[in-house]
Amino acid sequence: MTESYLQNLFAERIGGRQYGKSTAIYKFEKIKRAKRAALAANPGAEIIDMGVGEPDEMAFPEVVAEMHRAALKPENRGYADNGDAVLKQAAARYLDRVCGVKGINPETEVVHSIGSKAALSILPAAFINPGDYVLMTTPGYPVFGTHAKYYGGLVHNLPLTEENRFLPDLDSIPAEVLKKAKALVINYPNNPTGASATAEFYQRVVQFARKNNVIVISDAAYAALVFDGKPLSFLAAPGAKEVGVELHSCSKSFNMTGWRIGFVAGNELLVKAYGDVKDNTDSGQFLAIQHAAAYCFDHPEITEKIAAKYARRMEALVQVLRAAGFNARKPQGSFFLYVKAPRAAVKPDGSRIEFRSAEEFSQWLITEKLISTVPWDDAGAYLRFSVTFVARDQADEKRVLDEIAQRLSGVKFEF
Ligand SMILES: Cc1ncc(COP(=O)(O)O)c(C=O)c1O
Repeated sequence: MTESYLQNLFAERIGGRQYGKSTAIYKFEKIKRAKRAALAANPGAEIIDMGVGEPDEMAFPEVVAEMHRAALKPENRGYADNGDAVLKQAAARYLDRVCGVKGINPETEVVHSIGSKAALSILPAAFINPGDYVLMTTPGYPVFGTHAKYYGGLVHNLPLTEENRFLPDLDSIPAEVLKKAKALVINYPNNPTGASATAEFYQRVVQFARKNNVIVISDAAYAALVFDGKPLSFLAAPGAKEVGVELHSCSKSFNMTGWRIGFVAGNELLVKAYGDVKDNTDSGQFLAIQHAAAYCFDHPEITEKIAAKYARRMEALVQVLRAAGFNARKPQGSFFLYVKAPRAAVKPDGSRIEFRSAEEFSQWLITEKLISTVPWDDAGAYLRFSVTFVARDQADEKRVLDEIAQRLSGVKFEF
């Protein structure tokens, strides 16, 4: 069959003439396929899914009701563009009350996003010229880097390791990279490590940014999901507003992944640039959704309830994994538990299964134990367990956790 001329028209950034021809299977597709195969091999069996990166529950009924009320108002029907004042003002109040960030001007220092992913994909257009470097932590959420590369930018990865408490080593960046670095992207509480930042770290980031003329993008998608104390915002660090912006989202903190709503706040000029590119990208999120999000930001107790559930599940999962030999420790926030992958599993008959990577272990776990996780081999071999597994109620939650313990017993893991 002759190839269509269309095959020659793809941009190099997505593979050029080779677009669509690669047979490589990506990690998340492999996980999906392994889940399907495990189900087919064990009809009717329960797959315990700890691979998903999103809440297992719906938005709270009062948020849905708020959205309904707002959707009935004719004035909310049209293009929202960069938004009205409702979400902007609620975002500024939220940053003040919940995150201790004083003095955010809702008119000039906040613009909504159609979720943080959309903001991370828009922001590089505002800053990245060909040859510019972006400093990204790895393992991590790659969207800003992917789009920076679309514009001819380069990504320098900063590994997150246990020895560094999963904070990037800013002193490790080569001088020639630093010279061309435009942006540093950080994300705490972190996906996938579950690690939290500290006020000292954020202070160091501000100094680093000033010294090296770098923009800071703080992706705070999990910021409010903390198990003790108050959320820690990058913007609360003295001087942070001079060097960066922070991205907040209702997705994880309010069980609203499908609603697509969040905001970008911080430096006025950076927020303006984001707003200008956004204006040429989308026409804004439906105002009824924006107003429901404003309700959320005025009701942080919703997030506290969600976080309490994750904390409870996290404590139980840590115990289960520790009993199975994993060096699991409860993180301070997020819904991710990140543990070192074993090198081998030994069965009672003495037979050994070796794992050369976290990916191999994760495949074994889904195939043999019907437990789905996400493997990361970017900075050591680790597995991400998400405590967003499906359970009807607390009794069912306990049953699922007992089931995990049961499935992991019977083999001895070697690390
Ligand atoms: C670190 C991180 N940033 C951003 C996002 C995207 O969030 P949103 O739903 O607000 O687009 C995710 C979602 O998984 C994430 O893990």
